[in-house]
Amino acid sequence: MSVKVVLPEKLTICDHPIVKHNLGLLRNVQTNPEMFRSCTKRIAEFLFIKASEDIPTKKKIVQTPMMPASVETIPDSIEIIVAPILRAGLVFSEAACEILPTARIHHIGLFRDEETLKPVTYYNNMPKQVDKAKNTYAYILDPMLATGGSAMAALKVFEDLEIPEYNIKFISLICAPEGINKVHLEYPNVEIITACVDESLNQDGYIIPGLGDAGDRAFNTEY
Ligand code: PRP
Ligand code: URA
Repeated sequence: MSVKVVLPEKLTICDHPIVKHNLGLLRNVQTNPEMFRSCTKRIAEFLFIKASEDIPTKKKIVQTPMMPASVETIPDSIEIIVAPILRAGLVFSEAACEILPTARIHHIGLFRDEETLKPVTYYNNMPKQVDKAKNTYAYILDPMLATGGSAMAALKVFEDLEIPEYNIKFISLICAPEGINKVHLEYPNVEIITACVDESLNQDGYIIPGLGDAGDRAFNTEY
């Protein structure tokens, strides 16, 4: 059964041909873990560039070898936090680190209980507080938004840090409508940036057609 998505204006689908092509490879059950990781990283680059396009820049003058030039750079008053959700978000974070090397990377370890589908937090490396004098932009990286339980657990950490909702982006390869709805009902101003919204979830909470278990496929732990 398909579920109606609330607030689609806070949902950005990146349908660049290279994203589509790599998503096609990712979905293929015959794609091996090495290839899976490289396709994930390629898509993550596109998604992260899209997600970060509203980071403010500030004009300044630099001296080129020829003459002074007016340039725009991200000022020190902007704090950027990238939070990969373990395990599958790790591959995403490689792309984020390359694009924004000055970002602070804070890992959050979550897995879904297979019976209840509820998130279990086993690691939280987020700071106790953020510098309120700075304008913080936060990017949560998790390839799969399924029931939305893991996303909600991660978002609560950012809510507790009082980071403004509209400065938080959730970046994901594939989303289920159920997960989008859950996130936007509680956090309507959090933008979700994704490569695709799939049809639904199956009875085990897996995204259909999806790509299977992202962590297992990336790290070759399917048995
Ligand atoms: C996967 C995925 C998300 C979560 C999404 O993690 O990476 O974190 O499931 O599902 P949800 O929206 O229903 O919460 P998983 O629990 O498989 O852990 P892993 O990355 O360590 O394999
Ligand atoms: N987690 C995954 O890795 N895949 C799904 O389809 C759902 C949750």
